[in-house]
Amino acid sequence: MLYRSQFHILSKIPGPRFPAATSLWIRWQRWHGRLSFEADKLLSLYGPVVRIAPNLVLVNDVQSVQSLFARQDLDTAPTAIRALRIGGHDWTVTYPQNPVARSRRRPVMVATTNKAMRYWQSTFDKNISQMVHDLGATRGRSSEDIVYHLRVATLLNSQAVMAGPQANLEPGDFPHVVGEYNFLVVWRLCLPEWLFYWLKWSPFRHAAFRVQSSDRLFRLGKEIVDEAANWAEDDAVSTVHELLAKSMKAGRFEDDPTEISAEMAGQILAATETTSSALAFIFYYLAREPNLVDALYDELQSAEGLKDLEGLQLLNACITEGLRFRPPVALTGSRVVPPGGLSIMGYFVPAGTVVTTQSLSLSRQRPDLFPNYDEYDPARWLEDDDKLISERRRCLAPFGIGARRCPGGNMATFQMRMILAAVVREFHLSVAPETTPLSMTPFEANGFRSRLDACRLVFTPRDLRPQPGPRGCECGTVCDCVECLCVHYDEH
Ligand code: HEM
Repeated sequence: MLYRSQFHILSKIPGPRFPAATSLWIRWQRWHGRLSFEADKLLSLYGPVVRIAPNLVLVNDVQSVQSLFARQDLDTAPTAIRALRIGGHDWTVTYPQNPVARSRRRPVMVATTNKAMRYWQSTFDKNISQMVHDLGATRGRSSEDIVYHLRVATLLNSQAVMAGPQANLEPGDFPHVVGEYNFLVVWRLCLPEWLFYWLKWSPFRHAAFRVQSSDRLFRLGKEIVDEAANWAEDDAVSTVHELLAKSMKAGRFEDDPTEISAEMAGQILAATETTSSALAFIFYYLAREPNLVDALYDELQSAEGLKDLEGLQLLNACITEGLRFRPPVALTGSRVVPPGGLSIMGYFVPAGTVVTTQSLSLSRQRPDLFPNYDEYDPARWLEDDDKLISERRRCLAPFGIGARRCPGGNMATFQMRMILAAVVREFHLSVAPETTPLSMTPFEANGFRSRLDACRLVFTPRDLRPQPGPRGCECGTVCDCVECLCVHYDEH
Protein backbone atom coordinates (compact mmCIF):
# COMPACT_ATOMS: atom_id res chain seq x y z
CA MET A 1 0.00 0.00 0.00
CA LEU A 2 2.83 2.34 0.87
CA TYR A 3 4.55 1.55 -2.42
CA ARG A 4 1.39 2.23 -4.43
CA SER A 5 0.66 5.55 -2.80
CA GLN A 6 4.22 6.87 -2.42
CA PHE A 7 6.60 5.29 -4.92
CA HIS A 8 4.58 3.94 -7.84
CA ILE A 9 4.97 5.97 -11.01
CA LEU A 10 1.28 6.99 -10.76
CA SER A 11 1.94 8.53 -7.34
CA LYS A 12 2.94 11.74 -9.15
CA ILE A 13 -0.66 12.14 -10.29
CA PRO A 14 -2.66 14.31 -7.88
CA GLY A 15 -5.21 12.69 -5.61
CA PRO A 16 -5.80 11.57 -2.02
CA ARG A 17 -3.55 8.84 -0.64
CA PHE A 18 -6.12 6.28 0.47
CA PRO A 19 -7.73 5.67 -2.98
CA ALA A 20 -4.22 5.50 -4.47
CA ALA A 21 -3.16 2.86 -1.97
CA THR A 22 -6.12 0.47 -2.03
CA SER A 23 -9.21 -0.33 -4.07
CA LEU A 24 -11.28 -0.26 -0.87
CA TRP A 25 -12.19 3.41 -1.42
CA ILE A 26 -13.56 2.88 -4.92
CA ARG A 27 -15.43 -0.27 -3.88
CA TRP A 28 -16.99 1.58 -0.97
CA GLN A 29 -18.14 4.44 -3.20
CA ARG A 30 -19.48 2.02 -5.79
CA TRP A 31 -21.34 0.07 -3.13
CA HIS A 32 -23.04 3.28 -2.03
CA GLY A 33 -23.77 4.25 -5.63
CA ARG A 34 -21.94 7.55 -5.45
CA LEU A 35 -18.57 7.07 -7.12
CA SER A 36 -19.15 9.71 -9.79
CA PHE A 37 -20.18 12.43 -7.36
CA GLU A 38 -17.31 11.62 -4.97
CA ALA A 39 -14.87 11.59 -7.89
CA ASP A 40 -16.31 14.95 -8.96
CA LYS A 41 -15.47 16.35 -5.52
CA LEU A 42 -11.89 15.12 -5.96
CA LEU A 43 -11.67 16.94 -9.28
CA SER A 44 -12.73 20.15 -7.51
CA LEU A 45 -9.98 19.62 -4.94
CA TYR A 46 -7.11 18.30 -7.05
CA GLY A 47 -7.69 19.60 -10.60
CA PRO A 48 -8.52 17.98 -13.94
CA VAL A 49 -6.50 14.78 -13.54
CA VAL A 50 -6.90 12.65 -10.41
CA ARG A 51 -5.90 9.15 -9.39
CA ILE A 52 -9.08 7.65 -7.94
CA ALA A 53 -7.86 4.05 -7.43
CA PRO A 54 -4.46 2.33 -7.48
CA ASN A 55 -4.73 1.72 -11.22
CA LEU A 56 -7.42 4.23 -12.29
CA VAL A 57 -6.90 7.82 -13.43
CA LEU A 58 -9.81 10.18 -14.03
CA VAL A 59 -9.24 12.84 -16.70
CA ASN A 60 -11.53 15.85 -16.98
CA ASP A 61 -9.83 18.09 -19.52
CA VAL A 62 -11.91 18.17 -22.72
CA GLN A 63 -8.94 18.53 -25.08
CA SER A 64 -6.97 15.68 -23.48
CA VAL A 65 -10.00 13.41 -23.30
CA GLN A 66 -10.79 14.01 -26.97
CA SER A 67 -7.32 13.15 -28.20
CA LEU A 68 -7.04 10.16 -25.86
CA PHE A 69 -10.39 8.63 -26.70
CA ALA A 70 -9.97 9.20 -30.44
CA ARG A 71 -7.16 6.61 -30.48
CA GLN A 72 -7.96 3.22 -31.98
CA ASP A 73 -5.40 1.30 -29.94
CA LEU A 74 -7.00 1.65 -26.52
CA ASP A 75 -9.13 -1.28 -25.34
CA THR A 76 -12.06 -0.67 -23.05
CA ALA A 77 -11.34 -1.59 -19.45
CA PRO A 78 -11.97 -5.27 -18.67
CA THR A 79 -13.09 -4.94 -15.03
CA ALA A 80 -15.88 -2.48 -15.79
CA ILE A 81 -16.95 -4.47 -18.83
CA ARG A 82 -16.79 -7.88 -17.14
CA ALA A 83 -19.34 -6.60 -14.65
CA LEU A 84 -21.77 -6.24 -17.57
CA ARG A 85 -21.51 -9.83 -18.80
CA ILE A 86 -24.74 -11.60 -19.50
CA GLY A 87 -25.46 -15.29 -19.09
CA GLY A 88 -22.25 -17.30 -19.34
CA HIS A 89 -20.58 -14.90 -21.74
CA ASP A 90 -17.71 -12.77 -20.66
CA TRP A 91 -17.74 -10.15 -23.34
CA THR A 92 -20.72 -8.75 -25.13
CA VAL A 93 -21.59 -5.37 -26.61
CA THR A 94 -18.58 -3.48 -25.29
CA TYR A 95 -16.01 -6.09 -26.31
CA PRO A 96 -12.65 -4.72 -25.06
CA GLN A 97 -10.65 -4.95 -28.28
CA ASN A 98 -11.52 -2.42 -30.93
CA PRO A 99 -11.22 -4.72 -33.99
CA VAL A 100 -13.80 -7.15 -32.55
CA ALA A 101 -16.03 -4.41 -31.19
CA ARG A 102 -16.04 -2.64 -34.56
CA SER A 103 -17.96 -5.47 -36.22
CA ARG A 104 -20.55 -5.24 -33.42
CA ARG A 105 -20.86 -1.48 -33.36
CA ARG A 106 -21.39 -1.15 -37.08
CA PRO A 107 -24.71 -3.04 -37.17
CA VAL A 108 -26.13 -0.63 -34.58
CA MET A 109 -24.97 2.42 -36.51
CA VAL A 110 -26.34 1.15 -39.82
CA ALA A 111 -29.65 0.05 -38.31
CA THR A 112 -30.26 3.37 -36.52
CA THR A 113 -29.57 6.00 -39.18
CA ASN A 114 -32.10 8.82 -39.71
CA LYS A 115 -33.52 6.93 -42.69
CA ALA A 116 -33.92 3.80 -40.58
CA MET A 117 -35.56 5.79 -37.79
CA ARG A 118 -38.14 7.14 -40.23
CA TYR A 119 -38.86 3.55 -41.21
CA TRP A 120 -39.39 2.56 -37.54
CA GLN A 121 -41.36 5.68 -36.65
CA SER A 122 -44.79 4.09 -37.02
CA THR A 123 -43.78 1.11 -34.87
CA PHE A 124 -42.42 3.44 -32.18
CA ASP A 125 -45.58 5.51 -32.48
CA LYS A 126 -47.74 2.45 -31.77
CA ASN A 127 -45.68 1.42 -28.73
CA ILE A 128 -45.56 4.95 -27.33
CA SER A 129 -49.30 5.39 -27.82
CA GLN A 130 -49.80 2.23 -25.78
CA MET A 131 -47.60 3.72 -23.06
CA VAL A 132 -49.63 6.95 -23.08
CA HIS A 133 -52.81 4.90 -22.89
CA ASP A 134 -51.48 2.95 -19.88
CA LEU A 135 -50.34 6.13 -18.11
CA GLY A 136 -53.78 7.62 -18.58
CA ALA A 137 -55.66 4.61 -17.20
CA THR A 138 -55.89 6.07 -13.68
CA ARG A 139 -57.11 9.46 -15.05
CA GLY A 140 -54.64 11.20 -12.73
CA ARG A 141 -56.27 9.75 -9.61
CA SER A 142 -53.14 7.90 -8.54
CA SER A 143 -49.47 7.91 -9.38
CA GLU A 144 -47.61 5.80 -11.93
CA ASP A 145 -44.01 4.65 -11.87
CA ILE A 146 -42.63 6.21 -15.05
CA VAL A 147 -39.50 4.04 -14.86
CA TYR A 148 -41.64 0.93 -15.33
CA HIS A 149 -43.49 2.37 -18.33
CA LEU A 150 -40.29 3.63 -19.95
CA ARG A 151 -38.64 0.24 -19.61
CA VAL A 152 -41.59 -1.41 -21.35
CA ALA A 153 -41.82 1.15 -24.18
CA THR A 154 -38.09 1.19 -24.88
CA LEU A 155 -37.99 -2.61 -24.84
CA LEU A 156 -40.78 -2.78 -27.41
CA ASN A 157 -39.11 -0.16 -29.62
CA SER A 158 -35.71 -1.80 -29.32
CA GLN A 159 -36.91 -5.29 -30.13
CA ALA A 160 -38.26 -3.97 -33.45
CA VAL A 161 -34.93 -2.39 -34.36
CA MET A 162 -33.05 -5.47 -33.19
CA ALA A 163 -35.22 -8.20 -34.67
CA GLY A 164 -37.90 -6.66 -36.91
CA PRO A 165 -41.49 -5.41 -36.48
CA GLN A 166 -42.86 -8.95 -36.22
CA ALA A 167 -40.94 -9.45 -32.95
CA ASN A 168 -43.59 -9.77 -30.34
CA LEU A 169 -42.05 -10.46 -26.95
CA GLU A 170 -44.18 -9.85 -23.91
CA PRO A 171 -42.35 -7.43 -21.59
CA GLY A 172 -43.46 -9.63 -18.64
CA ASP A 173 -41.21 -8.96 -15.68
CA PHE A 174 -38.47 -7.33 -17.80
CA PRO A 175 -38.65 -4.01 -15.86
CA HIS A 176 -38.11 -5.85 -12.59
CA VAL A 177 -35.39 -8.17 -13.94
CA VAL A 178 -33.44 -5.35 -15.50
CA GLY A 179 -33.74 -3.30 -12.31
CA GLU A 180 -32.20 -6.16 -10.33
CA TYR A 181 -29.52 -6.69 -12.96
CA ASN A 182 -28.41 -3.06 -12.57
CA PHE A 183 -27.77 -3.67 -8.89
CA LEU A 184 -26.05 -6.98 -9.70
CA VAL A 185 -23.52 -4.94 -11.68
CA VAL A 186 -22.74 -3.00 -8.50
CA TRP A 187 -22.29 -6.26 -6.59
CA ARG A 188 -19.99 -7.61 -9.28
CA LEU A 189 -17.81 -4.52 -9.02
CA CYS A 190 -17.58 -4.77 -5.24
CA LEU A 191 -17.84 -8.41 -4.14
CA PRO A 192 -15.70 -11.49 -4.82
CA GLU A 193 -16.68 -13.78 -7.67
CA TRP A 194 -17.16 -16.94 -5.57
CA LEU A 195 -19.96 -15.30 -3.59
CA PHE A 196 -22.23 -15.26 -6.64
CA TYR A 197 -22.16 -19.05 -7.12
CA TRP A 198 -23.29 -19.39 -3.56
CA LEU A 199 -25.86 -16.57 -3.63
CA LYS A 200 -27.44 -17.91 -6.82
CA TRP A 201 -28.70 -21.01 -5.03
CA SER A 202 -28.88 -19.52 -1.55
CA PRO A 203 -32.10 -19.36 0.51
CA PHE A 204 -31.99 -15.55 0.28
CA ARG A 205 -34.61 -15.22 -2.41
CA HIS A 206 -34.05 -11.60 -3.32
CA ALA A 207 -30.29 -12.05 -3.63
CA ALA A 208 -30.76 -15.28 -5.63
CA PHE A 209 -33.17 -13.52 -7.99
CA ARG A 210 -30.71 -10.67 -8.45
CA VAL A 211 -27.88 -13.03 -9.35
CA GLN A 212 -30.15 -14.97 -11.70
CA SER A 213 -31.27 -11.78 -13.46
CA SER A 214 -28.23 -12.10 -15.72
CA ASP A 215 -29.40 -15.56 -16.94
CA ARG A 216 -32.92 -14.22 -17.43
CA LEU A 217 -31.59 -11.43 -19.63
CA PHE A 218 -29.61 -13.99 -21.58
CA ARG A 219 -32.86 -15.90 -22.22
CA LEU A 220 -34.45 -12.67 -23.42
CA GLY A 221 -31.54 -12.29 -25.85
CA LYS A 222 -32.18 -15.82 -27.08
CA GLU A 223 -35.87 -15.06 -27.59
CA ILE A 224 -34.91 -11.98 -29.62
CA VAL A 225 -32.71 -14.19 -31.80
CA ASP A 226 -35.64 -16.64 -32.27
CA GLU A 227 -37.98 -13.77 -33.16
CA ALA A 228 -35.40 -12.39 -35.58
CA ALA A 229 -35.53 -15.65 -37.55
CA ASN A 230 -39.00 -14.61 -38.76
CA TRP A 231 -37.86 -11.27 -40.19
CA ALA A 232 -38.64 -11.13 -43.89
CA GLU A 233 -35.71 -9.02 -45.06
CA ASP A 234 -36.64 -5.62 -46.44
CA ASP A 235 -34.54 -3.61 -48.89
CA ALA A 236 -35.46 -0.39 -47.10
CA VAL A 237 -33.89 -1.28 -43.76
CA SER A 238 -31.79 -3.87 -41.94
CA THR A 239 -32.24 -5.02 -38.37
CA VAL A 240 -29.35 -5.07 -35.91
CA HIS A 241 -29.60 -8.86 -35.68
CA GLU A 242 -29.50 -9.31 -39.45
CA LEU A 243 -26.30 -7.25 -39.76
CA LEU A 244 -24.76 -8.69 -36.66
CA ALA A 245 -25.38 -12.30 -37.70
CA LYS A 246 -23.70 -11.58 -41.04
CA SER A 247 -20.67 -9.92 -39.49
CA MET A 248 -20.31 -12.57 -36.77
CA LYS A 249 -20.50 -15.31 -39.38
CA ALA A 250 -17.77 -13.61 -41.36
CA GLY A 251 -15.73 -12.98 -38.23
CA ARG A 252 -14.06 -15.30 -35.82
CA PHE A 253 -17.20 -16.25 -33.90
CA GLU A 254 -18.53 -18.57 -36.56
CA ASP A 255 -22.16 -17.79 -35.97
CA ASP A 256 -22.13 -19.07 -32.38
CA PRO A 257 -25.83 -19.08 -31.36
CA THR A 258 -25.14 -18.55 -27.66
CA GLU A 259 -22.71 -15.72 -28.26
CA ILE A 260 -25.20 -13.91 -30.46
CA SER A 261 -27.95 -14.36 -27.84
CA ALA A 262 -25.72 -12.77 -25.21
CA GLU A 263 -24.86 -10.02 -27.66
CA MET A 264 -28.56 -9.30 -28.37
CA ALA A 265 -29.32 -9.21 -24.65
CA GLY A 266 -26.48 -6.74 -24.19
CA GLN A 267 -27.74 -4.62 -27.06
CA ILE A 268 -31.24 -4.54 -25.58
CA LEU A 269 -29.80 -3.51 -22.25
CA ALA A 270 -27.62 -0.79 -23.82
CA ALA A 271 -30.60 0.53 -25.75
CA THR A 272 -33.25 0.49 -23.03
CA GLU A 273 -31.72 1.26 -19.64
CA THR A 274 -29.83 4.34 -20.78
CA THR A 275 -32.82 5.88 -22.52
CA SER A 276 -35.19 5.03 -19.66
CA SER A 277 -32.83 6.46 -17.06
CA ALA A 278 -32.41 9.76 -18.93
CA LEU A 279 -36.13 10.15 -19.57
CA ALA A 280 -37.16 9.26 -16.01
CA PHE A 281 -35.03 12.08 -14.63
CA ILE A 282 -36.26 14.48 -17.31
CA PHE A 283 -39.90 13.68 -16.51
CA TYR A 284 -39.19 14.18 -12.81
CA TYR A 285 -37.66 17.63 -13.32
CA LEU A 286 -40.42 18.62 -15.74
CA ALA A 287 -43.08 17.54 -13.26
CA ARG A 288 -41.55 19.94 -10.75
CA GLU A 289 -41.93 22.84 -13.18
CA PRO A 290 -45.47 23.13 -14.58
CA ASN A 291 -44.55 26.35 -16.44
CA LEU A 292 -41.85 24.54 -18.34
CA VAL A 293 -44.28 21.76 -19.26
CA ASP A 294 -46.78 24.37 -20.48
CA ALA A 295 -44.08 26.04 -22.62
CA LEU A 296 -43.17 22.66 -24.06
CA TYR A 297 -46.82 21.92 -24.72
CA ASP A 298 -47.17 25.22 -26.60
CA GLU A 299 -44.06 24.50 -28.66
CA LEU A 300 -45.39 21.05 -29.54
CA GLN A 301 -48.45 22.61 -31.17
CA SER A 302 -46.22 23.66 -34.06
CA ALA A 303 -45.33 20.06 -34.95
CA GLU A 304 -47.63 17.62 -36.61
CA GLY A 305 -48.12 14.41 -34.66
CA LEU A 306 -44.83 12.81 -33.77
CA LYS A 307 -43.16 14.03 -36.97
CA ASP A 308 -41.01 17.16 -37.30
CA LEU A 309 -39.83 17.08 -33.72
CA GLU A 310 -36.13 17.52 -34.56
CA GLY A 311 -36.42 21.29 -34.95
CA LEU A 312 -38.21 22.00 -31.66
CA GLN A 313 -35.73 23.99 -29.64
CA LEU A 314 -37.21 23.68 -26.18
CA LEU A 315 -37.83 19.97 -26.62
CA ASN A 316 -34.21 19.47 -27.66
CA ALA A 317 -33.00 21.69 -24.82
CA CYS A 318 -34.92 19.61 -22.26
CA ILE A 319 -33.21 16.46 -23.58
CA THR A 320 -29.72 18.00 -23.80
CA GLU A 321 -30.01 19.36 -20.28
CA GLY A 322 -31.30 16.01 -18.96
CA LEU A 323 -28.31 14.23 -20.48
CA ARG A 324 -25.96 16.86 -19.04
CA PHE A 325 -27.41 16.93 -15.55
CA ARG A 326 -28.03 13.21 -15.11
CA PRO A 327 -25.95 11.42 -17.77
CA PRO A 328 -27.24 7.82 -17.82
CA VAL A 329 -23.77 6.23 -18.01
CA ALA A 330 -21.75 7.25 -14.97
CA LEU A 331 -18.08 6.64 -15.84
CA THR A 332 -18.68 7.48 -19.47
CA GLY A 333 -15.75 5.53 -20.91
CA SER A 334 -12.73 3.66 -19.53
CA ARG A 335 -9.67 2.70 -21.58
CA VAL A 336 -6.51 0.71 -20.95
CA VAL A 337 -3.20 2.46 -21.71
CA PRO A 338 -1.36 0.48 -24.43
CA PRO A 339 2.26 -0.81 -24.32
CA GLY A 340 4.74 2.04 -24.13
CA GLY A 341 2.49 4.16 -21.89
CA LEU A 342 1.09 7.61 -22.61
CA SER A 343 1.68 11.15 -21.56
CA ILE A 344 -1.53 12.68 -20.24
CA MET A 345 -1.57 16.33 -19.23
CA GLY A 346 2.15 16.23 -18.51
CA TYR A 347 2.07 13.02 -16.46
CA PHE A 348 3.51 9.72 -17.68
CA VAL A 349 0.90 6.96 -17.41
CA PRO A 350 2.33 3.43 -17.81
CA ALA A 351 0.85 0.60 -19.90
CA GLY A 352 -2.03 -1.24 -18.26
CA THR A 353 -3.31 1.80 -16.33
CA VAL A 354 -7.01 2.47 -16.81
CA VAL A 355 -7.93 6.03 -17.77
CA THR A 356 -11.48 7.17 -17.52
CA THR A 357 -13.65 10.24 -17.92
CA GLN A 358 -17.15 11.19 -16.87
CA SER A 359 -19.59 13.37 -18.72
CA LEU A 360 -21.04 14.48 -15.40
CA SER A 361 -17.91 16.40 -14.43
CA LEU A 362 -17.16 18.02 -17.77
CA SER A 363 -19.87 20.60 -17.10
CA ARG A 364 -19.81 20.57 -13.29
CA GLN A 365 -16.16 21.56 -13.30
CA ARG A 366 -16.82 24.58 -15.53
CA PRO A 367 -18.83 27.00 -13.37
CA ASP A 368 -17.73 29.79 -15.72
CA LEU A 369 -19.84 28.18 -18.47
CA PHE A 370 -22.44 26.55 -16.20
CA PRO A 371 -22.92 28.89 -13.20
CA ASN A 372 -25.93 26.92 -11.90
CA TYR A 373 -24.48 23.54 -12.90
CA ASP A 374 -26.33 21.73 -10.12
CA GLU A 375 -29.75 22.62 -11.51
CA TYR A 376 -31.87 21.25 -14.32
CA ASP A 377 -32.08 24.35 -16.51
CA PRO A 378 -32.96 23.76 -20.20
CA ALA A 379 -32.99 27.55 -20.76
CA ARG A 380 -29.18 27.55 -20.77
CA TRP A 381 -29.31 25.89 -24.20
CA LEU A 382 -31.63 28.55 -25.64
CA GLU A 383 -29.46 31.61 -25.10
CA ASP A 384 -28.60 33.74 -28.15
CA ASP A 385 -24.83 33.60 -27.77
CA ASP A 386 -23.77 30.90 -30.29
CA LYS A 387 -20.16 30.90 -29.13
CA LEU A 388 -21.19 30.27 -25.55
CA ILE A 389 -23.56 27.49 -26.55
CA SER A 390 -20.91 25.71 -28.60
CA GLU A 391 -18.42 26.05 -25.70
CA ARG A 392 -21.02 24.47 -23.47
CA ARG A 393 -21.65 21.69 -25.98
CA ARG A 394 -17.98 20.79 -25.91
CA CYS A 395 -18.47 19.95 -22.23
CA LEU A 396 -21.07 17.29 -22.97
CA ALA A 397 -20.28 13.64 -23.62
CA PRO A 398 -23.26 11.55 -22.46
CA PHE A 399 -22.70 9.16 -25.38
CA GLY A 400 -18.94 8.97 -24.84
CA ILE A 401 -16.21 10.34 -27.06
CA GLY A 402 -14.15 9.11 -29.99
CA ALA A 403 -13.58 5.64 -31.36
CA ARG A 404 -15.89 3.76 -29.00
CA ARG A 405 -18.57 6.42 -28.76
CA CYS A 406 -22.12 5.04 -28.41
CA PRO A 407 -23.37 3.85 -31.81
CA GLY A 408 -27.02 4.16 -30.71
CA GLY A 409 -27.13 7.89 -29.94
CA ASN A 410 -29.29 8.67 -32.93
CA MET A 411 -31.96 6.17 -31.95
CA ALA A 412 -31.79 7.35 -28.34
CA THR A 413 -32.53 11.01 -29.11
CA PHE A 414 -35.12 10.12 -31.74
CA GLN A 415 -36.99 7.98 -29.24
CA MET A 416 -36.64 10.46 -26.41
CA ARG A 417 -38.18 13.24 -28.51
CA MET A 418 -41.12 11.03 -29.44
CA ILE A 419 -41.79 9.87 -25.88
CA LEU A 420 -41.50 13.34 -24.32
CA ALA A 421 -43.73 14.86 -26.99
CA ALA A 422 -46.40 12.18 -26.70
CA VAL A 423 -46.61 12.38 -22.91
CA VAL A 424 -46.52 16.18 -22.61
CA ARG A 425 -49.19 16.53 -25.30
CA GLU A 426 -51.50 14.26 -23.36
CA PHE A 427 -50.92 15.05 -19.67
CA HIS A 428 -50.30 17.62 -16.99
CA LEU A 429 -47.46 16.27 -14.88
CA SER A 430 -47.01 16.50 -11.15
CA VAL A 431 -44.78 14.84 -8.59
CA ALA A 432 -46.44 12.21 -6.39
CA PRO A 433 -46.00 12.71 -2.63
CA GLU A 434 -43.86 9.56 -2.34
CA THR A 435 -41.36 10.96 -4.85
CA THR A 436 -39.01 13.31 -3.02
CA PRO A 437 -35.65 14.93 -3.76
CA LEU A 438 -34.15 12.26 -1.49
CA SER A 439 -35.82 9.36 -3.31
CA MET A 440 -34.62 10.87 -6.60
CA THR A 441 -31.02 11.26 -5.46
CA PRO A 442 -29.00 9.67 -8.25
CA PHE A 443 -27.63 6.25 -7.36
CA GLU A 444 -25.07 4.61 -9.63
CA ALA A 445 -26.15 1.09 -10.50
CA ASN A 446 -25.07 0.32 -14.05
CA GLY A 447 -25.64 4.02 -14.77
CA PHE A 448 -27.65 6.53 -12.78
CA ARG A 449 -30.96 5.44 -11.26
CA SER A 450 -33.13 7.01 -8.64
CA ARG A 451 -32.37 5.66 -5.19
CA LEU A 452 -35.50 3.46 -5.18
CA ASP A 453 -35.21 2.61 -8.88
CA ALA A 454 -38.64 4.17 -9.34
CA CYS A 455 -40.12 7.59 -10.02
CA ARG A 456 -43.79 7.95 -9.24
CA LEU A 457 -45.53 10.86 -10.96
CA VAL A 458 -49.13 11.84 -11.51
CA PHE A 459 -50.26 12.00 -15.14
CA THR A 460 -53.49 13.96 -15.38
CA PRO A 461 -55.11 13.89 -18.81
CA ARG A 462 -55.34 17.36 -20.32
CA ASP A 463 -58.91 16.71 -21.42
CA LEU A 464 -60.07 16.10 -17.86
CA ARG A 465 -62.38 18.93 -16.87
CA PRO A 466 -61.91 20.36 -13.37
CA GLN A 467 -64.25 18.65 -10.94
CA PRO A 468 -65.30 20.17 -7.65
CA GLY A 469 -63.59 18.40 -4.78
CA PRO A 470 -65.48 17.45 -1.59
CA ARG A 471 -64.67 20.87 -0.19
CA GLY A 472 -65.98 22.71 -3.23
CA CYS A 473 -62.69 23.72 -4.82
CA GLU A 474 -62.74 23.51 -8.61
CA CYS A 475 -59.07 23.50 -9.41
CA GLY A 476 -58.97 19.81 -8.99
CA THR A 477 -57.59 18.00 -12.05
CA VAL A 478 -54.07 18.36 -10.75
CA CYS A 479 -54.39 16.46 -7.54
CA ASP A 480 -51.87 16.72 -4.78
CA CYS A 481 -54.03 15.89 -1.79
CA VAL A 482 -55.66 12.63 -0.98
CA GLU A 483 -58.85 14.25 0.12
CA CYS A 484 -60.04 16.62 -2.56
CA LEU A 485 -57.69 16.31 -5.50
CA CYS A 486 -56.77 19.95 -5.10
CA VAL A 487 -53.43 21.68 -5.47
CA HIS A 488 -54.60 24.41 -3.07
CA TYR A 489 -54.65 21.98 -0.17
CA ASP A 490 -52.97 24.41 2.21
CA GLU A 491 -55.61 27.07 1.61
CA HIS A 492 -58.51 24.87 2.76
C1 HEM B 1 -29.66 8.02 -23.80
C2 HEM B 1 -29.28 6.86 -24.32
C3 HEM B 1 -27.87 6.34 -24.39
C4 HEM B 1 -26.74 6.77 -23.75
C5 HEM B 1 -26.59 7.95 -22.79
C6 HEM B 1 -25.66 5.89 -24.14
C7 HEM B 1 -24.35 6.02 -23.71
C8 HEM B 1 -23.33 5.15 -24.04
C9 HEM B 1 -21.97 5.26 -23.57
C10 HEM B 1 -21.45 6.35 -22.64
C11 HEM B 1 -21.26 4.24 -24.11
C12 HEM B 1 -19.80 3.93 -23.84
C13 HEM B 1 -18.93 4.76 -24.76
C14 HEM B 1 -17.47 4.60 -24.49
O1 HEM B 1 -17.02 3.62 -23.87
O2 HEM B 1 -16.74 5.50 -24.91
C15 HEM B 1 -22.18 3.47 -24.91
C16 HEM B 1 -21.83 2.35 -25.62
C17 HEM B 1 -22.70 1.62 -26.39
N1 HEM B 1 -24.03 1.91 -26.63
FE1 HEM B 1 -25.05 3.48 -25.91
N2 HEM B 1 -26.16 4.96 -25.00
C18 HEM B 1 -27.50 5.19 -25.19
C19 HEM B 1 -28.35 4.50 -26.02
C20 HEM B 1 -27.99 3.43 -26.81
C21 HEM B 1 -28.86 2.78 -27.75
C22 HEM B 1 -30.30 3.20 -28.06
C23 HEM B 1 -28.15 1.73 -28.29
C24 HEM B 1 -28.56 0.71 -29.32
C25 HEM B 1 -29.48 0.90 -30.22
C26 HEM B 1 -26.82 1.76 -27.69
C27 HEM B 1 -25.81 0.86 -27.98
C28 HEM B 1 -24.53 0.95 -27.47
C29 HEM B 1 -23.47 0.00 -27.80
C30 HEM B 1 -23.60 -1.22 -28.71
C31 HEM B 1 -22.32 0.42 -27.12
C32 HEM B 1 -20.94 -0.23 -27.13
C33 HEM B 1 -20.04 0.46 -28.12
C34 HEM B 1 -18.61 -0.07 -28.14
O3 HEM B 1 -18.21 -0.83 -27.26
O4 HEM B 1 -17.85 0.32 -29.02
N3 HEM B 1 -26.77 2.81 -26.80
N4 HEM B 1 -23.42 4.06 -24.87
